[in-house]
Amino acid sequence: MESSMMKGAHIIATGSALPKKCISNYDLSKVVDTSDEWIYTRTGIKERRLISEDQCIIDLAYQASQKALDNAKINPQTLDLIVLATSSQNDLFGSASQLQAKIGATNAVAFDITAACSGFIIGLITANQFIQTGSYKKILIVGADILSQWVDWSDRNTCILFGDGAGAVILQASKTNFILGFQLDTNGLEANKLCISYQQESVQSYHNNTLGIKQGQYSYIKMNGKEVYKFAVSKVPESIKKCLIQLQLSIDDISWLILHQANQRILDTIAEKLCIPSDKVISNLQCYGNTSAASIPIVLDEANQKGYLKNNDIIIIAGFGAGLTWGTLIIKWYT
Ligand code: UT7
Repeated sequence: MESSMMKGAHIIATGSALPKKCISNYDLSKVVDTSDEWIYTRTGIKERRLISEDQCIIDLAYQASQKALDNAKINPQTLDLIVLATSSQNDLFGSASQLQAKIGATNAVAFDITAACSGFIIGLITANQFIQTGSYKKILIVGADILSQWVDWSDRNTCILFGDGAGAVILQASKTNFILGFQLDTNGLEANKLCISYQQESVQSYHNNTLGIKQGQYSYIKMNGKEVYKFAVSKVPESIKKCLIQLQLSIDDISWLILHQANQRILDTIAEKLCIPSDKVISNLQCYGNTSAASIPIVLDEANQKGYLKNNDIIIIAGFGAGLTWGTLIIKWYT
């Protein structure tokens, strides 16, 4: 994870997009046996945004990307690469190329990264490798998810958590390196704790005995909430600590903690374990719920637009989720 001797990079702009349709906890209580009180006290969520029938993931990813491009005042044709972190793509072969076409980034290579709630951080770290090797200079990284399409709306354990959205950043090569370091981990042995798995046997599965073919379909999101909760509050602080030690930084050096927006109790517990005061923890869970790969770039964009982030601020960004995957990225803000 050494990045010091290589080429530098920094985030030059951010953008985000959220669907207009807003669903409150009260709205959900009409669909499943739940209440605003239960959802808010257990998760910190009050409402979430969901895409409408005429929208698709690319619409949200496009809006977020366009805002980042406008904020950076750059022509999309100068982009070298587009990394789309999503686990709800509208094409299993990848959706990044649709985004490339829609923003007119004709010179950019484009590919997807599928890693659910860790997707954006893995995407940003991957993009940074291309800059450090000198291969590319301007990269658009987008986190977008519409998990409302994959939620079982009769399962109160999961349907109350998720919302739809997209966020984007533009990473550009620079003389000084502002992407200080990272730490990534995976534990595939616990992949079944949070998944949308393909099932051979399903109501609509296709069998052809002559050819020996069976075709199934994907199921809804399945999650063991308690286990994922325990995983997040134990592994994420460890990951952040490792990253800080490698960079010889202390908690006092940290200006902001930006975590994947999964549950306010998770955010509070992680901050408490690290002795990071709550006024340094940025959260928008109340308004949007868990937007998976989009949550970190949305919260980063909001903090940026509100003027919270000042040049030379040190920011810890950490993501965690399905896989199980988790990771930390520490950056110095400079736009
Ligand atoms: O992006 C990363 C992925 N996801 C996460 O980070 C999620 C991590 N997990 C969590 O955030 C929490 O585990 C949840 C919010 C999902 C659940 O909170 P919890 O405090 O762990 O609740 P629980 O699952 O232990 O359920 C407690 C009770 C149960 O009833 P009994 O067995 O005590 O009678 C549940 O049936 O609450 C019940 N319950 C609900 N009640 C009202 C579960 N969901 C609901 C609901 N409304 N929506």
